[in-house]
Amino acid sequence: MSVAVITGANRGLGAEWVAQLLDAGWTVYAGYRTQIGRLGSLACDSLTINQLDVQSMESVHSFADGAPGRIDLLVNNAGVADGRWRDLTEIDDKWALEVMDINALGPVRVVQALYPKMSHDGLVKVAMTSSLMASIDDCEMGRSYAYRASKTALNMFTVSMKKEAAERNISFVVLHPGWVKTSMGGDRAPVEMPESVEGMRKVVEELTLENSGQFIQYDGKQLPW
Ligand SMILES: NC(=O)c1ccc[n+]([C@@H]2O[C@H](COP(=O)([O-])OP(=O)(O)OC[C@H]3O[C@@H](n4cnc5c(N)ncnc54)[C@H](OP(=O)(O)O)[C@@H]3O)[C@@H](O)[C@H]2O)c1
Repeated sequence: MSVAVITGANRGLGAEWVAQLLDAGWTVYAGYRTQIGRLGSLACDSLTINQLDVQSMESVHSFADGAPGRIDLLVNNAGVADGRWRDLTEIDDKWALEVMDINALGPVRVVQALYPKMSHDGLVKVAMTSSLMASIDDCEMGRSYAYRASKTALNMFTVSMKKEAAERNISFVVLHPGWVKTSMGGDRAPVEMPESVEGMRKVVEELTLENSGQFIQYDGKQLPW
C-alpha cells in the first residue's frame, strides 16, 4: 500500500489532497497546525493525523517520529500569504521573515526530518507547493514581496536538493496549483480545488528521477523560473 504525507492538511488544497488520495486507495499521514478542520470528516482507517507546525523544529521532529516507517509521497503544501502590504514602504520585517520561515524553510525542515523514512528501494516523490508568483521571469505586477521571495527561495532549495536526493531515489517537483478558490486564493479564483489537485496528482504520477526538479502548473504546463 502506498503512503503519502501531506502538510497543512486541515483545509484548502491540503485537505483536498487528503480526500483524493484516500479515494484512490492511499494510506495518508496528515499534518494540521491547530484545528483538524475538514480532516474530521475524512476520518477512516487509512488516515492518521498529527499536529505539525512547520516553523517549530520540535513539532516537525515529533510529526516525523509519528510518521509511517516508509513514505512514498510527500506533499509539502502548508503555506501562508503576505497580503498585508499595499506598497514597498509597508514591508514589515518581522512578518516577512515569518513568511520566509514558513514557506521556504518549513518544507525543507519537513524533508530533512522525513529523509530517513524516504530512503528505501522504491522511487519516492516530493511535491513542493510553490506558486507562479515565485517566477522571476513572470513577475510583471510585483508586490506580494515576501510571498514571492519565499516561494522563489523554496524553488531554489528544491532544485539544489534534487541531485543529492536522486542518489536516494527521491524525485522532486515544484508545483503551481493554479489560482484556486481557497481562503488564500479567494472567491474570485477561477480554479476549483478538485480540478487543481486532480491536475497536480497527474503531474506527480508522471514524476521520475530523470524529470526531477521541474516547475510545473497543475495542468501540466512547464513554467519559467
Ligand atoms: N490558493 C491559491 O490560489 C494558491 C496559488 C498558488 C500557490 N498556493 C499554495 O498552495 C498551498 C496551499 O494553499 P491554500 O490555498 O490551500 O491555502 P489555505 O487555505 O490558506 O491553507 C493553508 C494551509 O497551510 C497551513 N499552514 C500555515 N502555516 C503553517 C505552519 N506554520 N505549519 C503548518 N501548517 C501551516 C494552514 O494551517 P492553519 O489552518 O493552521 O492556518 C492551512 O492548512 C500554499 O503553499 C500556497 O502558497 C495557493
